[in-house]
Amino acid sequence: MISDQPNAGSARELAGVDVPADTSGITAEQYRAAMRHYPTGVTVVTLRHDDNPIGFTASSFASLSLDPPLISFNIAHSSSSIRALHASDSVVIHFLGEHQRHVAQRFARSADQRFADQSLWTWLDTGEPVLYGTPIWLRVTIHQLIPVGDHTLVVGLVNRVEDVTDSPTGAPLLYHHGRYHRPTPIDE
Ligand SMILES: Cc1cc2nc3c(=O)[nH]c(=O)nc-3n(C[C@H](O)[C@H](O)[C@H](O)COP(=O)(O)O)c2cc1C
Repeated sequence: MISDQPNAGSARELAGVDVPADTSGITAEQYRAAMRHYPTGVTVVTLRHDDNPIGFTASSFASLSLDPPLISFNIAHSSSSIRALHASDSVVIHFLGEHQRHVAQRFARSADQRFADQSLWTWLDTGEPVLYGTPIWLRVTIHQLIPVGDHTLVVGLVNRVEDVTDSPTGAPLLYHHGRYHRPTPIDE
């Protein structure tokens, strides 16, 4: 297809996949404002790279397929974790509880401080870092990395589920409008 957008072709080549040229007509502010209104859960993705623990807060987690059990999340190309993710075969995805707001904040700030507190995490026998006190975590092997726009979509196969949501710390942490929330039921 011939485009009259001067940079459309090169943007596609850079991404290596079929990314539409930006003819959307919406501004970044409009996009951000709409996305801020969409509520999400909060996860921390962790992995091991060159014997170092790597991790970041991610709200882009989604359940993708039951058979086989697949999940997805997105990582920004500007993320300091992207090189490690490309080199890794597996990650652990923690669904944070309402008591873990400080963990969400820690894993969204300076990368060199994220694992500085040794009392917050340990190594799994399979090699990934795991955070103590998380209501649910999944061990996931990476199935596909798909660069799309300014992020890479990561598709992973779940091969371990640890679930302690029947404990008092079971309620999930939520993110909406740039703030953390706890769930409040509105039905019976
Ligand atoms: C609630 C929340 C959700 C986030 N979700 C994502 C996400 O899905 N993908 C992503 O790459 N970064 C996400 N981030 C940003 C990362 O946690 C991190 O701050 C950012 O990648 C910068 O990290 P760096 O300094 O290691 O590059 C999120 C941050 C917050 C606070």
